[in-house]
Amino acid sequence: MKLWGGRFEKNTNEIVDSFQNSIKFDYRMYKQDIKGSIAHAGMLGYKGIIGQKDAETIIKGLAEILADIEAGKVEFKQEAEDIHMNIESLLIEKIGQVGKKLHTGRSRNDQVALDFRMYLKEEMDEIIYLIKELCSLLLKKAEENAELIMPGYTHMQKAQPITLGHHLMAYFHMFCRDMNRFHDCYGRTDVMPLGSGALAGTTYDLDREMVAKELGFGSISGNSMDAVGDRDFVIEFISGCSILMMHLSRFCEELVLWNSHEFGYIEMDDSMSTGSSIMPQKKNPDVAELIRGKTGRVYGDLMAMLTIMKALPLAYNKDMQEDKEAAFDAADTVKNCIAVFIPMFDTITFNKEKIKEKLKGGFLNATDAADYLVYKGVAFRDAHEAIGGMVNYCIKNKKALEDLSLEELKTFNPSFESDIYEYISMESCVLRRNTAGGPSPKRVLEAIEEGKRHLDII
Ligand code: ARG
Repeated sequence: MKLWGGRFEKNTNEIVDSFQNSIKFDYRMYKQDIKGSIAHAGMLGYKGIIGQKDAETIIKGLAEILADIEAGKVEFKQEAEDIHMNIESLLIEKIGQVGKKLHTGRSRNDQVALDFRMYLKEEMDEIIYLIKELCSLLLKKAEENAELIMPGYTHMQKAQPITLGHHLMAYFHMFCRDMNRFHDCYGRTDVMPLGSGALAGTTYDLDREMVAKELGFGSISGNSMDAVGDRDFVIEFISGCSILMMHLSRFCEELVLWNSHEFGYIEMDDSMSTGSSIMPQKKNPDVAELIRGKTGRVYGDLMAMLTIMKALPLAYNKDMQEDKEAAFDAADTVKNCIAVFIPMFDTITFNKEKIKEKLKGGFLNATDAADYLVYKGVAFRDAHEAIGGMVNYCIKNKKALEDLSLEELKTFNPSFESDIYEYISMESCVLRRNTAGGPSPKRVLEAIEEGKRHLDII
């Protein structure tokens, strides 16, 4: 017998039951559902909407059901549709008639909105914690490599010298913003919808603030139709997940490149790599590749959610039940990816010799050579032109700028003097890149200190 069976003369067709039930995935919210029901029952008793004794019996019954579930003693029923009605049925089974009073002044529509908000708040806490771990690790690695000079790239072409610490701190900044995004989303999710009923509130004199306080919500929702009819907090959550995954995937892509024989900047630990079933020599960066790949899956969750909500009329529609799997999948994927990224990154060896070797070739100091001429009084455009000619000459003669003799240099511009060699050494190029937010070791160490303070206060 369905909890809503009164107006029906026939049983639900089995194919409908199995098609529309959500217990197969929303069982995950059993804790939130029970917590929410306990707060609701407590408030109903306090307000005299149901008897105080009845409220106590309900609360005790719910607590026992929670213990039973956690002890593995409960098997959820597909006929009971979803976690909400499963728990209500279990309650009625356990405490009898009194259990039927729990749903007074409540609809599954506000109940599911409540449970889902509670669930995602916890997920965001966990994700924020993980991002913080990742950020601390980045600070540590950046500090160790604040002075390690490496090529910086644009268009995947060597551009200007930077420090590895600076490169890593770029990701630190991205992940800090990701963390902020979850903080912001948390604030908008932290709104208590119970009391909105099916869509039009309820006729009972509920104390919504009391329930919100009991459940640790920051505020109560201001419109009953909005509260049961929107899922923008879910879309926002998965957007946050998607942006975070986009950042992770870029990082992973760089690690895959750096780990290649062609770059050789890093070596991944054996324990974090996998082999080939046919090629004996292979050691593949599968973890980084898989994180890169899973980014697509999280984007899929976001697309699904945006598309499900598009053009839905107010208020609740069953379409919205599809929100759970997308959000669960995004949350699981993000948590798994950060959790495996951390040890993978932590165990990487940076091949300092190889990185140093790769500073040669590619004219990383060409901008600095032009700056040198400007410093000697040449206009920047003329300096740019002169260095361009020098680069062309060097390519033809297989030389670096610093390999040219002073005589050769003077044929391009008479302002060159012997201090040019020191000026365009990689060390001085990086040391001079001292603008706030720049790659010089001094600035990187400053950014790391600032980063540590920032992590401390979140
Ligand atoms: N299982 C439903 C969901 O996840 C709960 C709300 C159902 N409400 C309804 N009137 N069918 O959205």
